[in-house]
Amino acid sequence: MPNPRKVCIIGAGNVGSTFAYTLMQSALAREIVLIDLDADRAQGEAMDLNHGLFFAPPVTIRAGGYDEVAEAALIVITAGAKQKPGESRLDLVQRNVAICKGIMGEIISRTSDAIVIMVTNPVDVLTYVAQEISGWPHGRILGSGTVLDSARFRYLLSDHCKVDPRNVHAYIIGEHGDSEVGVWSMTHIAGVPMDSYCTQICRQTCSDEHRAHILETVRDSAYHVIESKGATYYGVSMALARITAAVLRDENSILTVSLRADGHYGLSGVCLSLPAIVNRTGVERVIDTPLAHHEHEALHHSAAVLKDIIGHVTL
Ligand SMILES: NC(=O)c1ccc[n+]([C@@H]2O[C@H](COP(=O)([O-])OP(=O)(O)OC[C@H]3O[C@@H](n4cnc5c(N)ncnc54)[C@H](O)[C@@H]3O)[C@@H](O)[C@H]2O)c1
Repeated sequence: MPNPRKVCIIGAGNVGSTFAYTLMQSALAREIVLIDLDADRAQGEAMDLNHGLFFAPPVTIRAGGYDEVAEAALIVITAGAKQKPGESRLDLVQRNVAICKGIMGEIISRTSDAIVIMVTNPVDVLTYVAQEISGWPHGRILGSGTVLDSARFRYLLSDHCKVDPRNVHAYIIGEHGDSEVGVWSMTHIAGVPMDSYCTQICRQTCSDEHRAHILETVRDSAYHVIESKGATYYGVSMALARITAAVLRDENSILTVSLRADGHYGLSGVCLSLPAIVNRTGVERVIDTPLAHHEHEALHHSAAVLKDIIGHVTL
């Protein structure tokens, strides 16, 4: 049986080590293990993190090898190549599919009980690849998907309406990437649909131009951050801590993780983000609810983009 508070992070680069830093302060995990092809990097990150233990809740942190995954309740995969400036997430596909296959081989030879969160891009494609390779129930392998994009969307809406982002309910669904879809029809603040909230309560316009600008900003956020500082890691680490909490604490939280569509929204044979209940079993169920016609069309376009890539991947 897995240790319910042991988390293995595969890939100790920007995202993996920042997630470890976020996790060590969250009191969610009792053991954190960093695994990386670059063993020195993993060792160095573990040492650096350990030097902060005096200021953190009790947790052990170490670098290790793949045998560590045998007892892990949660395995988070951040290993791989990252986007270069101007490179789309989908350009990364072949490089990271090969890495993903190698890592999943190591995992499935040692455990069949953990929940796996895929983070490496293109995350939807790699979630699909990992599910296919493992043969595990699909819900046990999920992608971080658009949890981060939904957070970016909520932040921008909260800024527009001058309200706490935690009071904004809004989802980005579909691909974690260029074809992602902002679901305005599900967006509300304190139960008030976005349109009414803007016009009646915060007295801000939310014209089609405003909406398009907000969604464009969400979609291009990663490109802008990468152009400025080379990588994104703080926002995604907090999103990963949120998903980790949902799994380790069995929270039944609704999150837009990347999952295998199985008839939901009329889609199948693809992994992409949809609002779903996440708990200790991974993805328990998808919240399948009617979308506006144009949103439904956009979601199907996003799925088609991903299916096309999956069709070119050699498993
Ligand atoms: N899903 C999201 O929301 C999101 C957000 C940000 C970044 N990412 C993705 O996360 C991934 C990592 O980004 P980063 O900035 O941390 O990159 P990075 O280059 O800083 O770190 C990647 C690490 O993976 C390691 N690695 C490479 N191949 C490996 C293997 N076969 N086994 C074990 N370790 C291996 C490298 O040694 C390196 O330490 C990228 O694919 C990036 O696009 C996803």
